[in-house]
Amino acid sequence: MSPDPSRLTADAPAALEIRGISVSYGGMRALSDVSLVVPEGAVVALLGPNGAGKSTTLRAVSGLVRADGGKILVRGIPVERRPPHAVARLGVVHVPEGRGIFPSLTVQENLEMCRYAVGRDVDPVSGAAAIFPVLGDRLRQLAGSLSGGEQQMLALARALLSRPRLLMVDEISMGLAPIIVQHLFDALRQRASAGTSLLLVEQYIDAALELADYVYVLDKGRIVDVGEPGDVRQGALVSAYLGS
Ligand SMILES: Nc1ncnc2c1ncn2[C@@H]1O[C@H](COP(=O)(O)OP(=O)(O)OP(=O)(O)O)[C@@H](O)[C@H]1O
Ligand SMILES: [Mg+2]
Repeated sequence: MSPDPSRLTADAPAALEIRGISVSYGGMRALSDVSLVVPEGAVVALLGPNGAGKSTTLRAVSGLVRADGGKILVRGIPVERRPPHAVARLGVVHVPEGRGIFPSLTVQENLEMCRYAVGRDVDPVSGAAAIFPVLGDRLRQLAGSLSGGEQQMLALARALLSRPRLLMVDEISMGLAPIIVQHLFDALRQRASAGTSLLLVEQYIDAALELADYVYVLDKGRIVDVGEPGDVRQGALVSAYLGS
């Protein structure tokens, strides 16, 4: 029997607890009765085939779409009716699918824009260069002209510098070479070992399984399996991706 992370957090509030949410776009149901727990300090991977509802789950947490029912708790605080800026204020940082940057601004301007979120003690420009040195060499370049991997480094650097307590990352590896994916995952691993809670949506299943403490498998808007990486590597994960 796979361990259910919700049972590990009976005493301390979880970094994130989603209880039975449903989300529809117009009349189209995208999520049905989805429950998921990210224990404080844990890495949780949310996996599943295209259209399963992974991005919708992250959007519901950050307040970008409304759940029709259910609850979303961040460290025990209900957020399902809060607007995105109020969820962000609780330390929830979302790196969205695609490139979460401003393409017509320079790298430096993209970094300056998160100065408020970064706080007074850290300079976002030197902070980003410390995480991904290549960004330090590209400060005057328009972000939209960076390579795909550099754009994701910029998006992730902005997120990591914004003092996340819960960092949600949606398919950061999309379309990138394995070596770049490794750099991005190294930065995530470092942050996870420093205690930041992570919710990762990934298409690089092996990289996600290697980093995650717990894995949820979503298929057609429903959670079909949950457990530690070793438990879900076979079974539900395979059938969700291959369609059974
Ligand atoms: N803005 C929208 N309007 C209408 N339907 C949407 C919208 N966004 C998503 N959907 C639908 O909701 C379902 C779940 O989409 P979602 O983007 O959450 O899936 P996903 O698991 O992230 O997929 P992918 O792996 O392709 O990114 C899909 O059927 C999708 O077509
Ligand atoms: Mg998606």
